Amino acid sequence: MSTPYRRLETQLVHAGEPLPRIDGAVEMPIFQSATYIYEGAARYDDVRYLRSNNTPSQVALHDKLAVLEGAESALVTASGMAAISTTLLSILSQGDHLLAQNCLYGGTHDLITQEFPGAGLSATFIDGCRPESWAGQLTPRTRAIYVEAMTNPLLEVADLKAVVAFARSHGLIAVIDNTFASPVNFKPLAAGFDLSIHSATKYLNGHSDIVAGAVSGSARLIERIRHKLNILGGSLDPHAAFLLKRGLKTLALRVRYQNDSALALARCLAAHPAVRRVNYPGLEDHAQHARARELFAGCGGVLSFELDGGAERADAFAGRLRIAALAPSLGGVQTLITRPATTSHAGLSPQDRERLGIRDGLLRLSVGIEATEDLREDLEQALR
Ligand SMILES: Cc1ncc(COP(=O)(O)O)c(C=O)c1O
Repeated sequence: MSTPYRRLETQLVHAGEPLPRIDGAVEMPIFQSATYIYEGAARYDDVRYLRSNNTPSQVALHDKLAVLEGAESALVTASGMAAISTTLLSILSQGDHLLAQNCLYGGTHDLITQEFPGAGLSATFIDGCRPESWAGQLTPRTRAIYVEAMTNPLLEVADLKAVVAFARSHGLIAVIDNTFASPVNFKPLAAGFDLSIHSATKYLNGHSDIVAGAVSGSARLIERIRHKLNILGGSLDPHAAFLLKRGLKTLALRVRYQNDSALALARCLAAHPAVRRVNYPGLEDHAQHARARELFAGCGGVLSFELDGGAERADAFAGRLRIAALAPSLGGVQTLITRPATTSHAGLSPQDRERLGIRDGLLRLSVGIEATEDLREDLEQALR
């Protein structure tokens, strides 16, 4: 019989949940156990143990995520960076080369620039919006191409269709960090990507109370990554798994509300005389607005903007906000604001930040699920 969980909202609630329900519990209990009774497993990896990523809390999440992403298989990890590092170390071997987008999350950028050389790996950074420049960067050992759904903090949208076509024609594994879109706004595997990664810390969990990661793709690739994860040890613990699975149930409700709220606030900021520039792909004047409309169901809850007056003015403004908390991270129910030059992109040199267009006065707002009007009034009072 075909599954009754056909649409995203139903899948978020029910997919992967154990049936029949355990001891009648409507919600799956937390399996707070590191190890399980030996049941004659033939392979070491089949012995149930938390670090082997095969315990009930983890397996339920794997099954739910695979359904949400339209993947054969999925894996949860202890953080987004655990998902990213384990994935890249699984698909690349000594001597291999990666094409990576030039404006990545700071941790991923550090992984590539600081850790790759010691592991005998190399990478070239490419402009995600200029597909014609990519072929010239290929080497005989290029194995994969890595991009983000929307870049942080400028919300650029790479030519994702071209990434998939390029990967196909050159035999590369196409990997995307889909954190900023979430499966509500973009389904990378349906678009042709081989692997979709998330910092589940952000929208997937959505409550800013755990760190977690996820990767989805073919059974063959995920098995390779799971084997590496078992060795590297970045496994998700049962309590975080419980919170992540609980958070996932409201993902569609949260993200759709955040899409609408962020767009309304972006419009309001763009119309304000004290605001110099707003970056949000949902705005008609965004450089990749047409592409974002074609690819995404919505543009998510994150936007960035610059005020007249630079870093000092930006800090004073952020300090006057009464609802938004001055804190890093994004995608949660609470609205958060940061100044990327001092947080997510502090690791880049001032020259690199300038080159990428991340000015000192740029603020990044992650819109939560508070009333849009309250957030608008708060922004306006702080601007006044
Ligand atoms: C786009 C993106 N990818 C990955 C990460 C890393 O995730 P985590 O902090 O869960 O390790 C972040 C964190 O901010 C992020 O914004």
